[in-house]
Amino acid sequence: MAVSDAYTHEFSEPLGYLDFASIGPPSLRVRGAVSDAFIRVSEPEGPLGPSILGTYEAALGTVGRFLGMAPELITVVPSTSTGLFGIAFGLVPFGGNVVVPEHEFPANIYPWLRAAGVGGPEVRLVEVPDRRVTVGALSEAVDDETRAIAVSSVDYLSGFRPDLAALRELADDALLVVDAIQGLGAVEFQSAPADVIVAGGQKWLRAGFGSGLLALSRRSIDMLHPTLTGWWGVEDSFDWDTLPPHTARADAERFQGGGPPLFGAYALAAALDVIEAEGMTAISTTVMENAMAVEDLVRGCGAGILEPWDREEERSGILSFQMSEEPAAATVLRLAAAGVTVSERGDWVRIASHATTDLAVLDVLAEVLDAEV
Ligand SMILES: Cc1ncc(COP(=O)(O)O)c(C=O)c1O
Repeated sequence: MAVSDAYTHEFSEPLGYLDFASIGPPSLRVRGAVSDAFIRVSEPEGPLGPSILGTYEAALGTVGRFLGMAPELITVVPSTSTGLFGIAFGLVPFGGNVVVPEHEFPANIYPWLRAAGVGGPEVRLVEVPDRRVTVGALSEAVDDETRAIAVSSVDYLSGFRPDLAALRELADDALLVVDAIQGLGAVEFQSAPADVIVAGGQKWLRAGFGSGLLALSRRSIDMLHPTLTGWWGVEDSFDWDTLPPHTARADAERFQGGGPPLFGAYALAAALDVIEAEGMTAISTTVMENAMAVEDLVRGCGAGILEPWDREEERSGILSFQMSEEPAAATVLRLAAAGVTVSERGDWVRIASHATTDLAVLDVLAEVLDAEV
């Protein structure tokens, strides 16, 4: 399945750009939304508050539609980390432990460590040598005192996609916290098993920096302590005659320290409009077809592939490989010289094409990788 011209014309990355797991160049629609917002606040025609807030609420509605969740369960965060800090610090009064695969991207490690440092749950970092995050891999670390299991929906290195429904069962009363930055916008995602979904918009969603989403189940909003809740996150936040503290809001806005990243919210909504117009099925099918085509090519060039998956549903848009007898850094440099942008991650070359990737890039890849010295 190919994506439509209307979709591809939204984007203008060069042919050799295969680094969507690092940064996903945003669409024209996103650029337009952010520049319109700047113009709106630069040239106010009266009080800005109502129109700014109206657009923000519409953006939360768009995110809710995308995730199949009510808008009151959604807020916008400047980064994945910021969202996860709110969750980790919300668990501080509960003690117990949180279970996290040791190989998670650090955005999903530091918040838990920092919260533990001020008396929050003990952090149980679980070694998963093959990066297959399964119930079997985590279950020994989970017990009656576990408050949260925190995983990525897509591993940033191997691209492995865990079975979130199975992890939900393992979590039982604990929260299942999902860093979805490497999956949302690229592969199909079921929101239901997760209590918390956090994702920066700067990668596969193609919304640019400062445009993350934080979505929570009703249960997790009610349970988490509003530890980092600031003036924006409370009831009657514009009532300055009543001195703080006000009661924390009952919706996801209670995770805001100060005013939300409004421009990020507009960018995110514009990015999701582009996705919605094309349909996640068409995008994810194309992402997977492109990833497989890249895989066939690099395999044919003799590369070793990091492949912890057993089934297709465990795969994503990310592929990491290494050429025999060539350090990853050297491969990355040779690809860069030919105009192909990928990332070096440890011993691996991480390659991440998107639905807009033109497979003419395979010829360039073949030329460089076949010419291995
Ligand atoms: C799995 C994962 N989570 C989070 C991030 C980024 O975190 P943040 O949005 O806090 O910068 C990355 C990559 O940069 C990542 O690969």
